Amino acid sequence: MSSIVFIGGGNMASCIIGGMIAQGFSAANIVVSEPGAESRQRLEESYGIKTTADNRAAAKQAELIVLAVKPQIMNEVVQELADCLGHNPAVVSIAAGIPLTSLQNWLGDDVAIIRAMPNTPAMVLCGATGLFANSLVTTEQQTQVEKVFDAVGYTCWVDNEAQIDAVIAVSGSGPAYFFRIMEIMQQVGQELGLPPQVAGDLSLKTALGAARMATESSANPTQLRQQVTSPGGTTEAALQTFEDQGLEDTFRKAMNSALTRAEQMSTDFGSAFK
Ligand SMILES: NC(=O)c1ccc[n+]([C@@H]2O[C@H](COP(=O)([O-])OP(=O)(O)OC[C@H]3O[C@@H](n4cnc5c(N)ncnc54)[C@H](OP(=O)(O)O)[C@@H]3O)[C@@H](O)[C@H]2O)c1
Repeated sequence: MSSIVFIGGGNMASCIIGGMIAQGFSAANIVVSEPGAESRQRLEESYGIKTTADNRAAAKQAELIVLAVKPQIMNEVVQELADCLGHNPAVVSIAAGIPLTSLQNWLGDDVAIIRAMPNTPAMVLCGATGLFANSLVTTEQQTQVEKVFDAVGYTCWVDNEAQIDAVIAVSGSGPAYFFRIMEIMQQVGQELGLPPQVAGDLSLKTALGAARMATESSANPTQLRQQVTSPGGTTEAALQTFEDQGLEDTFRKAMNSALTRAEQMSTDFGSAFK
C-alpha cells in the first residue's frame, strides 16, 4: 500500500497532481475519488492516474489521504471516512477554515492529521504552502507530506494552528492580490494611451521581473524598492501617491478581512455538532 488518495478532484487537487507528476511522482500511486464523471475522465487523460467515485474504497487503500473538497461539505465527506482509517493513514486537509479540532471530532482523536494551505500557483510549480501537524503525525509522514507540496513549490511548517489563518491571508489568497494589481496596471496603462495588448504585456512582464528579482536577489524588497527610487524621479512620485492614499493601510485591512473570514468559516463549517 503506497497510494496517495485525493478526495475531491477539482482545481487545487488538479494543480497539486499536475506538479507531482511533473516532478516524477508515479501516476500509479495517485488515486482521485471524485463524483464528477467528466472530472474523472479529465484527470485520467491528463495525468494517467486512477480515479474512482467511491471515497471509502479509495481511503482504505491510502497511505496518505488529501482532503480537497470545499469547506462547506467537509463535515459530510470526512464523517463518511471515519471508519475507513484503521490502517492509520495520515490525513491532510487543504480546506480553508476547518480547524483540527473539527477534523479530529469527525475522524477520531487517534488520527494523524495535517492542515495544509497551498495556493493556485502550484499549477506552475510556484506554489507556496503552509503546513501544521497534530501531535500524532510521525516524522516519516511529515516528510511524505512535505514531498507532495515541495513538488509544486515552496513549503514551510508553521508553529501553531492559528498561523494557518495568517498563511491564508498572505499566500492562500495572495495570488489574487497580485492579479488585481496586474489588472489595474493594465487598465491604467490603456488609459495612458497604450494599446491593450502592450499595456497587458508590460504589466505582466513587470510583475514577473519584480518577483524574480525579489526572490533571486540577495537584497530584500525594501532595498530593491529604494534602489529603483531616484530622488525627484517618476517612481518616487508614484510611491508617494501610494503613501498619501494609504496603500499600506488598505492592504492591512484587506489581509485582516481574509483572516477574519477564515476564522468565521471555522464557525460556519467547522462545528463538531453539525
Ligand atoms: N482555490 C484555492 O486557491 C485554494 C487555496 C488553498 C486551499 N483551497 C482549498 O482547497 C479545497 C478545494 O478547493 P478547489 O478550489 O479545488 O474546489 P473545487 O474545484 O470545487 O474542487 C472540489 C472538488 O470536490 C468534488 N466533490 C464534491 N463532493 C464530493 C464528495 N462528496 N466526495 C469527493 N469529492 C467531492 C467536486 O466535484 P463536483 O464539482 O462534481 O461537485 C470538485 O471536483 C477547498 O477546501 C479550499 O478551501 C483552495
